[in-house]
Amino acid sequence: MARHLITSAIPYINGVKHLGNLVGSQLPADLFARYMRARGHEVLFLCATDEHGTPAELAAAKAGKPVAEYCAEMWQVQADLADGFRLSFDHFGRSSSEQNKALTQHFAAQLDAEGLIREVSETQMYSHTDGRFLPDRYIEGTCPNCGFDSARGDQCDNCTKQLDPVDLIEPHSTISGSTDLEMRETKHLYLAQSKMKDEIEQWIDTRVGWPVLTTSIAKKWLNDGDGLQDRGITRDLDWGVPVMKDGAWWPGMEGKVFYVWFDAPIEYIACAQEWVDAGKGDDWERWWRTDKGADGVRYTQFMGKDNVPFHTLSFPVTILGSREPWKLVDYIKSFNYLNYDGGQFSTSRGRGVFMDQALEILPADYWRWWLLSHAPESSDSEFTWENFQSSVNKDLADVLGNFASRVTKFCRSKFSEAVPEGGTPGPREAQLVADLTARLAEYEAHMEAIEIRKAAASLRAAWVLGNEYLQDVAPWSTFKEDPAQAAMQIRLALNLIRLYAVISAPFIPDACADLLRAMKAEDAQWPESVEAAVTALSEGHAFDVPDVTFRKFTDAEREEWQERFAGVRT
Ligand code: 2FM
Ligand code: ZN
Repeated sequence: MARHLITSAIPYINGVKHLGNLVGSQLPADLFARYMRARGHEVLFLCATDEHGTPAELAAAKAGKPVAEYCAEMWQVQADLADGFRLSFDHFGRSSSEQNKALTQHFAAQLDAEGLIREVSETQMYSHTDGRFLPDRYIEGTCPNCGFDSARGDQCDNCTKQLDPVDLIEPHSTISGSTDLEMRETKHLYLAQSKMKDEIEQWIDTRVGWPVLTTSIAKKWLNDGDGLQDRGITRDLDWGVPVMKDGAWWPGMEGKVFYVWFDAPIEYIACAQEWVDAGKGDDWERWWRTDKGADGVRYTQFMGKDNVPFHTLSFPVTILGSREPWKLVDYIKSFNYLNYDGGQFSTSRGRGVFMDQALEILPADYWRWWLLSHAPESSDSEFTWENFQSSVNKDLADVLGNFASRVTKFCRSKFSEAVPEGGTPGPREAQLVADLTARLAEYEAHMEAIEIRKAAASLRAAWVLGNEYLQDVAPWSTFKEDPAQAAMQIRLALNLIRLYAVISAPFIPDACADLLRAMKAEDAQWPESVEAAVTALSEGHAFDVPDVTFRKFTDAEREEWQERFAGVRT
């Protein structure tokens, strides 16, 4: 038995996430966590909401709510949706927790003690009307290069020229529209990442077997000039972790907060503390402190490709730079993007299907199966309604669901609602066991390696083997001449339903729980061998015919949804 620490990138608090977000971190992390638990390993699976930063402040303002209240409400919304998708977090924390506040301040103090923090004076646009400094993208004005009137402080969207807010003609705040702006001097703390460059590079170079997507992004950032430059880790905002040390403001940093990307990954650790403080665990240090047992932990992170630089460079700088015995990540599984019907999913433009909408129209398992079996691993992938329909109708309804329903109904009509007796397995059954053994081994290897599409394909192939067997031996025909032989075939098939329910549960947990319940299977342990699994339900074992496990969805429904989700979410 091993110990697996698993974290998913923590989603921003402002708004419900779309399916592209879901498949880029939380869902594959859940698949892996469920699989590792099923294999008998000890798992701590953590996620949280990422609550700080300007977007959270602005979303709260737009909702007309104090930001703390807005975040508390949105945390609940996201937690409920996570439950709806059966994301099996051991704890779903909040980056605004007291635990994270204390730990973030601790890391900053520790990095300072190690000589990795310096103070930098810079000028930044201040809005008198808003009473705050404005981040670049909250300033707009006319582009000095092309005359476009809505160029942002950091870049002109029309001519793509990189800009500085001072370059803009007639700049104004996008928060209030005010033009009462001035450049003011402000001081910030910088993390001296450049001092850690060699150490980080060496660490990355020794990560053998990491996905190419992860290491290529990390290397590109490291070697592209601006890779490991020193980075401002404080902001002139109200909402965030106050820049304090030993309970007092850091001199010169009064009223400032840490940058959201500084405190967000620290929440991975704080979340384990929250888990203990919520009474769900009793020792977080054995997961996070290498001097307290965490050296025996395997730590896997899941995230979209845009998050990779922060997890391969910035967060390791925080961890290593502290010179304290914190656990470093062992494996980073990153994802490309999922596109939506010929374009991109977009939160800001409300384009695509969002988690709440998805659950309104179909059960979680349908989405889980499609998203995971089409995970954007080696390249971006695309959601289309046609593909979604054909894949879930075929794989889930025709292959798996139909197998379970045919076998149980046939048994009920010709024998009874109990595993029938009689007959002796022959070469065809031995062949099936051998084929399934090979598929299962392949499936396990892909799951261990977090090759999600390949794992889904192996699992589906295992379902297909059962159908092919039924087709070949045709118990409905056998029954006429040799009922005992048909009983043996059906006994084997009933056992396959249980086996499928056990091994498919990481992908489609609800349907598998239904199947196990129907089969009245007390033992849902991962199979020792296919050979043993095909006799787990012995002769006379009672079962129920399961309710329809997967309903096919119709062309009319598909068209309706296609139309409904073609526009933008308001
Ligand atoms: O991209 C995002 O959704 C970020 N909120 C991810 C943060 S992950 C980590 F750093 F905590
Ligand atoms: Zn321009």
